[in-house]
This record gives sequence, structure tokens and C-alpha cells, in this order.
Amino acid sequence: MELVICIGSSCHLKGSRQVVERLRQLIEEANLMDKVALSGTFCMGNCQKGISVTLDGKLFSLSPENVDGFFEDEVLARG
Ligand code: FES
Repeated sequence: MELVICIGSSCHLKGSRQVVERLRQLIEEANLMDKVALSGTFCMGNCQKGISVTLDGKLFSLSPENVDGFFEDEVLARG
């Protein structure tokens, strides 16, 4: 699985750094380090809805508050 997080300035201001850190933690806890590739990208053109994250090309709008739910529903579900 490929998880790409926007680190453009708008998403950065909304907390993309926290989202990256939290995702990294969750991936480690779930022992998915060899299954999930985490990377960053610049603005995805979705600033208004950011923090923009794509999972295998599908776009999601995350926040530091909903990142755990996203991980459970989308990442773990695909496991
Ligand atoms: S800065 Fe993240 S979508 Fe524009």
C-alpha cells in the first residue's frame, strides 16, 4: 500500500506533520512497516479540504483528529 501525505504549506498549517507522525506510529504498532510505504508530496491541489492524503491513489481529507479512524477503516481494512 502506498500512503502519500501532502506537506504543502496549507496542509502543513493544518497539521500534516502530526498526521505523518501518527501514521508512522500506527503503522509500526500494527507491524505493517513492510506493507505500507509512507511518503510526502507537495500540494495536491486539494488545499481547502486538506490535510490531503492518498491511499493507493484514492484521495482522503484527514485531520489530526480523524487519522486513527482513517487508519482503522481504510488501511487496516485492506491489511
Ligand atoms: S497544500 Fe495540501 S493540497 Fe494544497
